[in-house]
Amino acid sequence: MTESILVTRRPPGLALELLATAGEIDLWEGDYPIPPDELLARIVPATAVYCMPTDRIDRGVLAAAPMLRVVSNMAVGVDNIDLAACSERGIPVGHTPDVLTETTADLAFALLLAASRRLVEGVDQVRCGNWGPWDPEILLGRDVHSSVLGIVGMGRIGRAVAHRGRAFGMRILYVSAHQKPDEEKLGANRRDLAGLLTESDHVVLTVALSPQTYRLIDARALRLMKPTATLVNVGRGPLVDTDALVAALSSGAIAAAGLDVTDPEPLGAEHPLVALPNCVVTPHIGSASHRTRVAMAELAARNTLAGLAGEPLEACANVAVSS
Ligand code: GLV
Repeated sequence: MTESILVTRRPPGLALELLATAGEIDLWEGDYPIPPDELLARIVPATAVYCMPTDRIDRGVLAAAPMLRVVSNMAVGVDNIDLAACSERGIPVGHTPDVLTETTADLAFALLLAASRRLVEGVDQVRCGNWGPWDPEILLGRDVHSSVLGIVGMGRIGRAVAHRGRAFGMRILYVSAHQKPDEEKLGANRRDLAGLLTESDHVVLTVALSPQTYRLIDARALRLMKPTATLVNVGRGPLVDTDALVAALSSGAIAAAGLDVTDPEPLGAEHPLVALPNCVVTPHIGSASHRTRVAMAELAARNTLAGLAGEPLEACANVAVSS
């Protein structure tokens, strides 16, 4: 049987070659996300959709695709996909965990260091020709080493962040639905969110976005943090109430933020978060290394092929459907 595979953005590596072994590819060639009406029209004959985190695969899109047998997201997060609706139709949803863990943890640490040590402010001074003589009090930041690192979401990426934190001599606290014995053995301690925010010098968000975690970090949560604290978000933008964060950074209620994801996304250059000197924003590049993006693209292709063959996916976000 020749399959019809809608690919919503050109993936790197050998992903397209792999997909072509199963059938016809309908590739959206734009260098921006496929527009929703285009997605809705082109998904009609598809037996598989290979999609990006920028594509919303909701009930309306699924209803337009009567032949669809697999959804494969080139991302680990699947908050852009209506998982319940896919499960009701028996459609497995592939995603790309593991292959991006270390790369994303690297970026979390880069943001933590950049925000707490005021790296971008320093670079800006040099670029603008404002590098004066050495000054005993210029650009003083907050230490990362030997401080307390609070990790919200002790999944794969959270554990990789904790690993880096230990190498910096940090004490690790974490929030997670379950205690993590392996992490506890290494000295990490579980807290509730309020406890973690109160005690931590730096807070890193890696938790998945869900109705339960939407705006987890709101004005109340920010008030619990230390005025010297850094907030890093490498999860999803809506984990944080943006207006509350702007207020907290502007008033000095917290010291700094490093954000790879924002709400909304993308942010315009005029957005207050971009203008604030104590906020470092990167454009959702957590997994953006050459090697990792190829690994993600090819894993998403293998997930697609498995779904079309009626086999369990290598990485499935609605496991009950795949197994
Ligand atoms: C990217 O944000 C991902 O979820 O992989």
